[in-house]
Amino acid sequence: SSSGKKALTGKAISRDLFGVFFEDLSYAADGGLYAELIQNRSFEYSPADRKGWNPLTAWEYTTQGYGYGTISVETISPISVNNPHYVVLNVEEEGKEGVGLINSGFDGIVVKAGEKYDFSVFLKQLSNKSIPVQVKLQGKKGVVYGEVTFAGQTNNWKKYTAAISVNQSDDSARLVIVAKAKGKLALDMVSLFPQKTFRNRANGLRPDIAQAIADLKPKFMRFPGGCLVHGDGLGNIYRWKNTIGPVEQRIEQRNIWNYHQSVGLGYYEYFQFCEDIGAKPVPVLAAAVSCQNSGGTWRIGGTGQRGLPLEEMKGYIQDILDLVEYANGPVTSTWGAKRAAAGHPKPFNLEYLGIGNEDKITPEFKERFKMIYDVVRIKYPQITLIGTVGPAPSGDDYERGWKFANQLAVPVVDEHYYEKPEWFLRNNLRYDAYDRSKSKVYLGEYASQGNKLFNALAEAVYMTGLERNGDVVKMASYAPLIARQNHTSWNPNLIYFSNTAVAPTVNYYVQQLFSTNQGDRYYSNIVSFPDQKGSRDSTQAASLVKDSKTGDFILKLVNAGSAITRAKVNLNGLGSVNPKANYTILTGAPGAENTFSNQDNIVPKTSNFEVKRSFLYDVPPYSLIIIRMKSR
Ligand code: AHR
Repeated sequence: SSSGKKALTGKAISRDLFGVFFEDLSYAADGGLYAELIQNRSFEYSPADRKGWNPLTAWEYTTQGYGYGTISVETISPISVNNPHYVVLNVEEEGKEGVGLINSGFDGIVVKAGEKYDFSVFLKQLSNKSIPVQVKLQGKKGVVYGEVTFAGQTNNWKKYTAAISVNQSDDSARLVIVAKAKGKLALDMVSLFPQKTFRNRANGLRPDIAQAIADLKPKFMRFPGGCLVHGDGLGNIYRWKNTIGPVEQRIEQRNIWNYHQSVGLGYYEYFQFCEDIGAKPVPVLAAAVSCQNSGGTWRIGGTGQRGLPLEEMKGYIQDILDLVEYANGPVTSTWGAKRAAAGHPKPFNLEYLGIGNEDKITPEFKERFKMIYDVVRIKYPQITLIGTVGPAPSGDDYERGWKFANQLAVPVVDEHYYEKPEWFLRNNLRYDAYDRSKSKVYLGEYASQGNKLFNALAEAVYMTGLERNGDVVKMASYAPLIARQNHTSWNPNLIYFSNTAVAPTVNYYVQQLFSTNQGDRYYSNIVSFPDQKGSRDSTQAASLVKDSKTGDFILKLVNAGSAITRAKVNLNGLGSVNPKANYTILTGAPGAENTFSNQDNIVPKTSNFEVKRSFLYDVPPYSLIIIRMKSR
């Protein structure tokens, strides 16, 4: 440096600090990230998913053109016992247009002119002759955009596939599948995917939603929940083995958020997505207890937590060990071979595994967690296990959770809290006080209960505290990540989507600015706020990190207050810094939000900036500023 003194080196902070948490909540998977366009494709919806639902929910019987016959749902000889329901069409008179079913997807099927859609269905002939089956994509008024006809079924279930080309765009098309001759026919797994999926993967993901997540450059992705993981009663615990293999053989189940999980987006697809976006996978498995709020039925006066019978624990723990083998084992191992068979011979490089989600720290939980923990850490010492300290930021379970984690020396514990923005401002120093010799923290879920710029800035203030404490806070993820418009079970969320649009919130841009400007070394005392004169103003915060890969220094300044605030930046001690820096600002009115109709209301704006070794900078009200500097 110009002063001739040795350059500061800062302190090492986590390279995995900012990631995402994906939970199948608010139609995040089916009807969301998972690109399947048909709702209830396998006729497995039931009243257990939601009151009033049944195997024909989302389907409509059609006898267009004077045909008639009957339709029934049967279970006598399914494609797989795992997927028991299918439909039988008994056509007595085919009429002009045939007899069959209509599916309108999730609030309509979006088709685009000039694009192709991969259709598939399992058919079985139940009378003596093959029946032509016609499949049409059509508009509400009956205009046909594309179609295909299958024939030649046999007495055994067989999968039929075809690409359907569409000649007209429509945001609310429907799929019509009709039998066009007299006779009896069974059908199941009626599926339609756009050919364009994220990275063109089969059984893939919706490109726009996937891209919005990828653009956060998350260092990790926690999945598949949340409450979804420990489930709505013991029978509803998420079992990863039910979610791999051919989709028609997966075991579907109720979603604790009051809908259905087709598990078409299952563990293989989650791992593949993590790899595709460069995020380390962080699967979370239940600690063999179900959601304390359920007691069998979600939110209906539950009796507390339930644990799996102890005699089932051996098998349950084996499932967890098998997951590590599925992710990392050689192709010659039992579970590694299944990964290879699905199309991924190389390991998925699993480093982290979460056990438990926000559980009450009861004797049932402790006993089962310890049983799992003791086996998994011995068998796989290279995997970092993440425990849970119950609902945070404080309270009896939180206290008990920490005590228990300390007893067991759990490497990392998961904290969750949803609080007002003022709480995040006031608690910027939370982790400064954490004991460095104890368990490290994964802040697995947090949000300041709103999507206004002020909320996002309160989160930004807090995130400077996460960076400053990046030696003890190993990872952090905002929650929930994505939610389908008009189907939100939880608010706020980071990204909203409809069938045709993806609307990132202001909070999204804060997450993105921190994640894409993450460092692995933290430098203290670079910024001061001289006007504060000793008394801390919680609306102001700053951090300086270095990204060792690029050598860049990254300065973040946050002002969540209504007045201009003067920051004094002293770069002496950092070694030589190129004065020509990149500057990004996120600013606006504190109550401003991004909406579907005004998506770019508050977005980051970039420009150039000249830094000096020491300079004063007036941070505008309600703003987050990132100054990215090259070391020379
Ligand atoms: O993120 C929504 C829910 O909040 C999660 O499912 C649960 O872990 C927490 O209670």
